[in-house]
Amino acid sequence: MPDSIHPPKSSKAWGGVFREPTDKRVEAFSQSVSFDKRLANDDIDGSIAHARMLAVCGIISAEEASQIVTGLEEIRSEIARGEFEFTAAKEDIHLHIESALTARLGDTGRKLHTARSRNDQVATDLRLHCRHAIDRLDSGLHEVQRAFLDFAQREPGLVIPGYTHLRRAQPVLAAHQLLAWCEKFQRDRQRLADCRSRTNILPLGSGALAGTSLPIDREHVRHALDFESVAANSLDAASDRDFVCELAFVLSLTAVHLSQWAEEWILWSTEEFGFLRLPERFCTGSSIMPQKINPDVLELVRGKSARMIGNVQALLVLLKGLPTAYNRDLQEDKEAIFDSIDTLEAMLGVTAPLVAGTKFDHARVAATLERGHLDATSLMEALIAAGVPQRTAHEAVGHLVRRAMTRGVSLAELSDEEFGREYANWKSSFRSALGASRAVERMVSFGSTAPVQVADQLAVWQHRLNAP
Ligand code: ARG
Repeated sequence: MPDSIHPPKSSKAWGGVFREPTDKRVEAFSQSVSFDKRLANDDIDGSIAHARMLAVCGIISAEEASQIVTGLEEIRSEIARGEFEFTAAKEDIHLHIESALTARLGDTGRKLHTARSRNDQVATDLRLHCRHAIDRLDSGLHEVQRAFLDFAQREPGLVIPGYTHLRRAQPVLAAHQLLAWCEKFQRDRQRLADCRSRTNILPLGSGALAGTSLPIDREHVRHALDFESVAANSLDAASDRDFVCELAFVLSLTAVHLSQWAEEWILWSTEEFGFLRLPERFCTGSSIMPQKINPDVLELVRGKSARMIGNVQALLVLLKGLPTAYNRDLQEDKEAIFDSIDTLEAMLGVTAPLVAGTKFDHARVAATLERGHLDATSLMEALIAAGVPQRTAHEAVGHLVRRAMTRGVSLAELSDEEFGREYANWKSSFRSALGASRAVERMVSFGSTAPVQVADQLAVWQHRLNAP
């Protein structure tokens, strides 16, 4: 029997049953190639693994598989060179590549889609694509952590005001504050790794929804594409987009961290705070006010996080009404997740060099460090250590702060006599709890801002970020 019993007449991969051609408006409306062409490499990787497996299983010949692989590699180069033609009439990247292969190989090309549907194909492509993105974003985050660690290492002893409610609270080491960002980004990286393991499951071989009657070897494809496991339920596997939602969320939480950081540094670099000097090459100016040096990069990092949060919503709402197995709605998953990946990649790309070029203004920090009674808690704890109940010590120091506020002085500027009026057993040795630097040095708890604790953490991060 000849390979082609009926020479194909339709230009569509699915045209056989139709009695009229597709309306042009439908082609324009339903095409995805304008955005899913970025899956081209993943699609070709998946098809090569699939074709080789078909040959190993005796479903196509080794010669056919080798022609398919060569043809697909040629198509890959053509796309990379920008010479490949995309058209709405061919719907999506999967059909484009398959039809280009068939144009080259005839019936051999027409065999590639054996034991496969676009449903398990697109799910496979998207998983490969997200997996690669996860790996790139993880190294982007690593770079950013490195930049924060380097900054912390450049400022091992600098004491700055710590804030709660955006009010001066207790003094902290600048290095401690910088390492706080490393912690957040580490959790982001852990979430990425966790999401990667649920992304890295092979759907190919699920067919449209029910599997296939042809004797395929899914384990062979799993191994070739470096997936961790093979999806066990064809109905679920062809339509599962949990990994897309999960990745969009992980990326949006990372973006939220970057947005918080951007907000903090916008504030800290104002004339009013004056703690930080941003690199001018990472600032932009005003077209009307000649003096302006604006933190637009930080503002855009903060601003772009909004769209990424929106993408999580869009994906969840996309999925909520879908019955089991593939529905065409799922095509709408791509623009949202691609946008989140691109946006975060761009944010990480400017964050690391901006951090590397930023400096503390030591004079400005020092000029106001003793304002705001940052050492009040330190004094209270010194009294507690001498046996005063916490609530009593809190109240006594509260009175002392009120007195200092009224006189417009720091706690250290009060006299022993004034201290003695609030606390009968006052000794001038309690003064060792006063002053921002001393307050920082007196911390002892693990994870605190004490210089020894922070030095330990700097060493931990140095080791962690240098490890391969
Ligand atoms: N372009 C489609 C998507 O992105 C590919 C799968 C189409 N499957 C189908 N049966 N129409 O979801």
